[in-house]
This record gives sequence, structure tokens and C-alpha cells, in this order.
Amino acid sequence: MPPIIEIRKLKKHFNPPDGVVAVKGIDLDIMEGEIFSLLGPNGAGKTTAISMMSGLLTPTDGDAIIAGHSITRETMAAKQAIGVVPQELAIYPTLTARQNLNFFGKMYGLRGRDLKQRVDEVLDFTGLADRANDPVEEYSGGMKRRVNIGIGLLHRPQIVFLDEPTVAIDPQSRRNILDAVKNLNAGGMTVLYTTHYMEEAQELSNRVGIIDHGEIIALGTQDELTRMVGEQDTVRLTVPDVPPEVLDQLRALDGVTHCQLAGDGNGNGDGNGDNDSEHDRKNGEIRLLAGDGRAVLPDVIQVINRAGLSLRSIEITEPTLEAVFLHLTGRALRD
Ligand SMILES: Nc1ncnc2c1ncn2[C@@H]1O[C@H](COP(=O)(O)OP(=O)(O)O)[C@@H](O)[C@H]1O
Ligand SMILES: [Mg+2]
Repeated sequence: MPPIIEIRKLKKHFNPPDGVVAVKGIDLDIMEGEIFSLLGPNGAGKTTAISMMSGLLTPTDGDAIIAGHSITRETMAAKQAIGVVPQELAIYPTLTARQNLNFFGKMYGLRGRDLKQRVDEVLDFTGLADRANDPVEEYSGGMKRRVNIGIGLLHRPQIVFLDEPTVAIDPQSRRNILDAVKNLNAGGMTVLYTTHYMEEAQELSNRVGIIDHGEIIALGTQDELTRMVGEQDTVRLTVPDVPPEVLDQLRALDGVTHCQLAGDGNGNGDGNGDNDSEHDRKNGEIRLLAGDGRAVLPDVIQVINRAGLSLRSIEITEPTLEAVFLHLTGRALRD
């Protein structure tokens, strides 16, 4: 069976000739019926890629063929196959959930009884039926997200794109959204999901593409990806207010192959992680890779004690997608 989405040399250069090359010529196939996650830090190019694949942003080069239709040349037909749930909320705050869904349903060409039925289905599916007649501005962040998701599903698309749908919402709404994604997929929908939370990619995906600086740097099932890290443990430490020289000392220990702070790097959201921000140091979530996690623990604890710092938590885990990212880039993903 041919892939349902074929991404070919998809590229976006903002404001050339200078500007940012946000997506650097991506090639990717997504198969019918899978949940594919694009996992990468803030600024990696996820939204830019999704926006081009949704026909919202014109590629500088390349194309995406969606259910047999080119998004650049047959935009309407390609768009018909996809439901897009954008990262930024696209709802009218003063309208109720039902009014929002009615409005967008009409935009998709739904009318009369079909529209009413579909709006009711979507309200049920997103768990918003009880609150359907309250203005959306009275909703929690998570409920607003669910309206956003509902809008993307109205026209019964074959494929859904969800761009970081769980950022900045409460745990219960997050759970609800992850379960909804699984339910949609169980019903046969192909899902392209973007996130910077490795746990979500781990929980949801058949396959994961790790994206960084506009490039897919690794692609495969979780097993395939974690095998790239080899026989290494991840050691997760929390040391609030950790100074940079302590990170250097940890990095220099025998048996430690990588040591980074988890965070978005410099707090401005570009996620390049080249500098550890104040904020990240304050949180002090350190990620170490080591051939034998247990063997390095005494030295790690000694470094932290000598510096007079408090070790709030410590945990050794098998390689995760986060370890894959650390292994490939030398930087830690925020989770
Ligand atoms: N409209 C734009 N104009 C210029 N640069 C942009 C624009 N949108 C995004 N960028 C830049 O492109 C890069 C990728 O951004 P984005 O696709 O939003 O990443 P992500 O969704 O992975 O966080 C970032 O460096 C961002 O600053
Ligand atoms: Mg984004």
C-alpha cells in the first residue's frame, strides 16, 4: 500500500536571502492508519512543516502529496482529506462551543441535519456536550483545546494533523486528548501528531520522527530509535539552582557520555539549547547518559555534595526517546 502522506523535499526559508530556513528539505512517508509523531524542541520546525502540509503556508521548495493530492497544486482536494488542529487556538471566545462548531461546519460545507448531527457527534467525542452552550471564553485551557480539536474533525477527514495539542493544559485534559487521539486512530484515522513531550510520542506513536533545526535527524519505531543509543542508561537528576561548573564536573566524570540540563535552552522559545537559561538552571533537571548508570552514581552524588547543592531526586531509566535526542544532539529535550 502506498503511503497516505508523501513529503518530498519540503522546505521553508522565511524572508530569504537572509532569514531562517525553518524546514530544510524534509522527506517522509506516513502510512495509512498509523499514528506518526514528529518530536522536537521548540523552534525545531514542527509548526512550519504542518502549516505547509495543511496548505496554510507556501513551501519554498518541495511538496506534500496527501491522499494522492498535491498540497501545492491540488490544494482543495488535499485539504479535504485532512483535519487540521493548529497550535494556536482558532475559536471565537464569545461564542459557545456549539456556535463555534456550527460556524466552522458551515465553512466546510456542512448544512442542515448533517451539520447538526456532526456537531452533536463532535461535542460528544470531545466530552464537551454538557458545556456546549456556554461561551468558550468561560472554558479552561484544556476545554478550549478540545473545541479546537473538534473543529478539525467536523468534516470527517481521513487524516488529522494535531500540532502540540497538550501544551499548557491541565493533566485531565491532556489525558482526555491523548485518549481521543487513540480513539480516532482505532476508528481508522491516520494521525500526524507533533510534540516536544517525549512521553506523549512514546505513548501514542507507531513511528516517531525526531526533528531538530528543520531536519529529521532520526526516524523509526521506538525500539529502532532507542537501539541507536546502545547499551546506555539515562540518569535523571533534579538539582535546583545548579551552576554551570557543576554540570561541567558531571560531564567530565568517567563513564558519563552526555550531561545536559532539560529545558528549552534560552527561554526565548527558539529551543536551540546552546545556552542553559537561568530558568533551566533553577529547575535543575539534569540528564546524564552513562554506560552503567549505577556505577557512576557515587561520583555524581559526590560532585553534588561537594558543591553544597541539594539532590532532590534521582532516577535511572532504560533509554527513552529523550536519551535518543541527547545522544544525537548533545542536548536535552524538555519533558
Ligand atoms: N512566520 C515566520 N517568520 C519568520 N520565522 C519564523 C516564522 N515562523 C517560524 N519561524 C522560525 O522558524 C523556526 C521554526 O519555528 P516553528 O516551525 O514554529 O517551530 P516549532 O513548531 O517546532 O516550535 C523558528 O526559528 C522560528 O522562529
Ligand atoms: Mg510549533
